[in-house]
Amino acid sequence: MIRLMQADDIDGAMRLKSVASWNQTRLDWERLLRLEPRGCFVDEREGMVAGTTTALRHGTELAWIGMVLVLPAFRRKGIARGLVQHALAWLKECGNAVIGLDATAMGYSLYQQLRFRDEDLIERWERPPVRADVEVRPSATIKLSDSLLALDRTVCGYDRSALIRDLSTDPSVECVQRTSGFAFGRPGSSAWYVGPCVAGSESDAESLLIDLLTPHGSKRVFWDFLPSSAPARRLACRLGFRPARCLTRMLRNEGGGDLRDPKRSQIYAAAGFEFG
Ligand SMILES: CC(C)(COP(=O)(O)OP(=O)(O)OC[C@H]1O[C@@H](n2cnc3c(N)ncnc32)[C@H](O)[C@@H]1OP(=O)(O)O)[C@@H](O)C(=O)NCCC(=O)NCCS
Repeated sequence: MIRLMQADDIDGAMRLKSVASWNQTRLDWERLLRLEPRGCFVDEREGMVAGTTTALRHGTELAWIGMVLVLPAFRRKGIARGLVQHALAWLKECGNAVIGLDATAMGYSLYQQLRFRDEDLIERWERPPVRADVEVRPSATIKLSDSLLALDRTVCGYDRSALIRDLSTDPSVECVQRTSGFAFGRPGSSAWYVGPCVAGSESDAESLLIDLLTPHGSKRVFWDFLPSSAPARRLACRLGFRPARCLTRMLRNEGGGDLRDPKRSQIYAAAGFEFG
């Protein structure tokens, strides 16, 4: 039975995520529920959360499907297909015609069947611990300036301000900002996660990311970006990261909605496969 996810489902949802060895934490599920309480779904079977899917609207310009997970014992029974179709129907009711997602190899053919088309590749790069932490940075509430929110919108081509505002109020999230860009980072289950990061130039991004990463030298770190962005790739190499996995960024556009092309060279890190 497909129904809306509730806060009590997070234990079950974490189980699915752990079986798949994904990096999200409880805070990520809570963030998705807070941002889109009508867009997070579970399929309950035999009294347990057997499958999950989330749909996050970045306004009406773009919606993002994420957290498509099914417990191994329940796979190949149509649960993921049902959940994604349910999310797509809800998004249609909301007036969202353009929908994106980052597909793993396991999910790819389902999304093709549901009329998602390849848009780009997105890679996860990883850095092992490089040294001991040099400083403990106290968590603080961050206020990203309106001009940086406007920059993010111009660079991405859609409005992620609700997500960025939510990240900004989470005390576990860190942010470095300058007039030319910003970089966020947050804890993950298996690695600290860098992103989102948007910057006007490669040197601006480098200085933001060095400031963000330096206190976390003792941790394994994940960083997701579009390898079609040469500056992001160069910078990841220089900062000691190496490719770990590759997903396919896919888009479905049923209603002729118009999504502006992102300025790829200024997007240095994605917000997360589940956030867009
Ligand atoms: C991918 C996943 C969500 C599929 O869940 P599921 O409930 O088994 O999928 P469905 O039964 O709805 O399958 C729908 C179709 O997708 C395709 N599909 C599903 N699993 C597949 C796999 N492992 N390999 C290739 N194609 C697959 C098939 O075409 C399938 O239709 P069929 O069974 O009639 O052939 C599940 O395997 C999973 O949780 N994997 C780990 C996490 C992951 O990679 N999630 C996708 C994120 S983008």
